[in-house]
Amino acid sequence: MRKAVIIGATSGIGKALAEILLEKGYMVGLTGRRTELAEDLKNKYPGRAFVSFMDVKNTAESPVQLKKLIDEIGGMDLFVYSSGVGNINPDLSFELEQEAVEINVTGFINLTTAAAEYFRKQGSGHIVGISSVASLRGSAEGPAYNATKAFMSNWLEGVRIKFFKAGLPVTVTEILPGLTDTAMAKGEGLFWVEPVEKVAGEIYQAIIKRKHRATVTKRWALIAFLIKWMPDWIYRKL
Ligand SMILES: NC(=O)c1ccc[n+]([C@@H]2O[C@H](COP(=O)([O-])OP(=O)(O)OC[C@H]3O[C@@H](n4cnc5c(N)ncnc54)[C@H](OP(=O)(O)O)[C@@H]3O)[C@@H](O)[C@H]2O)c1
Repeated sequence: MRKAVIIGATSGIGKALAEILLEKGYMVGLTGRRTELAEDLKNKYPGRAFVSFMDVKNTAESPVQLKKLIDEIGGMDLFVYSSGVGNINPDLSFELEQEAVEINVTGFINLTTAAAEYFRKQGSGHIVGISSVASLRGSAEGPAYNATKAFMSNWLEGVRIKFFKAGLPVTVTEILPGLTDTAMAKGEGLFWVEPVEKVAGEIYQAIIKRKHRATVTKRWALIAFLIKWMPDWIYRKL
């Protein structure tokens, strides 16, 4: 039976992906601070859904909690980092920018390096990072969010090449969701906000195809292309 751990599976994309993996027969470890929100999956899939408290800001405790969860499930083939915050920060407050760095960068590399080491020793595995289309350009509303997502994407590519050079069959997948209907999609005038189940379904497809990179949903690939190549003088007016 395949075994997955999802960091940040108490709501949104992480939880929807957890449900798909459980439906497909995986054993899944779900983490987050609001563990009560994952109890429904624990009850629906007894013996296959394991829920563990984790605050990724606690860099000392969270790798220990990950190790315990892997032991509880009896191994890990797939590791997904979905935890994230996307603060709108009109006043450019340091605290809000710092929080994005703590969760989207420090928490991410803390746990993903632990997963990479686990897969290196095991000789196989799959790392998935939930980045964002936001990684492609800067943002005036929340500069740290887009910058942290650019970090994630770039870091994942580096680790992918590292495993390739080591000749180890560890897949590293970077997911770039467009706007998705979760608590995170805040703000006015949002467009093409996709249902979370659809986004998670396309992430699952990218996982089973062992893709290096996937923009979800497919129509967001068009927006991603436009965002990436748009001249500055147009982009800054958006
Ligand atoms: N929604 C979008 O439009 C969109 C677009 C592109 C990319 N994404 C990315 O998708 C990922 C998931 O976001 P979402 O849209 O599903 O929003 P969400 O429903 O708000 O989910 C965020 C997840 O992150 C976890 N998290 C936040 N702070 C944490 C902490 N200190 N420790 C551990 N976990 C923490 C939350 O768990 P707890 O609060 O229970 O700890 C929750 O499970 C994020 O990385 C986000 O950047 C979202």
